This record gives sequence, structure tokens and C-alpha cells, in this order.
Amino acid sequence: MATNRTFTMIKPDAFEAGNSGAILKMIEQTGFKLIAMKITKLTSEMAGAFYEVHKERGFYKELVEFMSSGPIIAAILEKDNAVADFRKLIGATDPAKADVGTIRKLFAKSISANAVHGSDSDENAQIEGGFFFSHLERV
Ligand code: CMP
Repeated sequence: MATNRTFTMIKPDAFEAGNSGAILKMIEQTGFKLIAMKITKLTSEMAGAFYEVHKERGFYKELVEFMSSGPIIAAILEKDNAVADFRKLIGATDPAKADVGTIRKLFAKSISANAVHGSDSDENAQIEGGFFFSHLERV
């Protein structure tokens, strides 16, 4: 069943560069409501578990190292058609291929340091939100 929620992380590159506020402003101005949000820092074990689905990919080690290299912001967002609309807002994984005006075009440095994560399906949005937040931490 489709839900109206998605999950995002503002990644260490964007957090370190001081772009979290600008990114959250774009998210809210596009009509997403914040349902849960926290600043945290992943251990490499946690980053590895979060991205376990990519374990066999050549970029997995780099991805885990990068995602545990500094603070992140994790959030659950709500909007009609949340997963698809959020992926449209953030743009392609590789910022070089992202559309003008998207978050990754504006703030990402590379395919690895690509500013934000967005869930790719309703099912993964639920799993990923549950990775970071208990039911008590969601409004
Ligand atoms: P994200 O949306 O968080 O989902 C998986 C992440 O893996 C992706 O963003 C990228 O940061 C990273 N990724 C995907 N493909 C590559 C690649 N070819 N090289 C390095 N990192 C990648």
C-alpha cells in the first residue's frame, strides 16, 4: 500500500558545509511536513547496516566511510506522493546529471558526497524511517 511518507538524510558533506538550513527550507517550501528529525553521527557499523542492500557494490566501502565521517540529519517527511516528489526535488544520484534547481545540483559535490539521501520506495521509506525513529519520536 502506498504511503505519503518518505525518509531523508542530510549527509555529512552538506551538514559540514552549513547547508542543512537551506536544504530544510527547500524541503518545507516544496510542501513536505517534518514528522520526525534528529542530528546524529553514524558509526561505520550503523552506516553499513543502513546501506546493507549495496553490500556487493564496488562503492560500498567508500559509502560507509563517508556516511560515518561526520554528523547527519535524519528525517521523516510527509506529503502526497512523498517518495516520488522527494526524489524529484533532490535530483539524480550523480549531481553532474541532476536537473537545475534540485538539491543535489545546488549542494552536492560528487556521487558519493551527494548532499542528501531519499528513499526509493514506500517500503524502503518505512524501513529506513524505522532504522532511526521509534513510534514515539514521530508526530
Ligand atoms: P543514496 O541516495 O544515499 O543511496 C545510495 C548511495 O550510494 C547514493 O546515494 C550514493 O551516494 C552512493 N552511490 C551510488 N552509486 C555510487 C557510485 N557509483 N560511486 C559512489 N557512490 C555511489
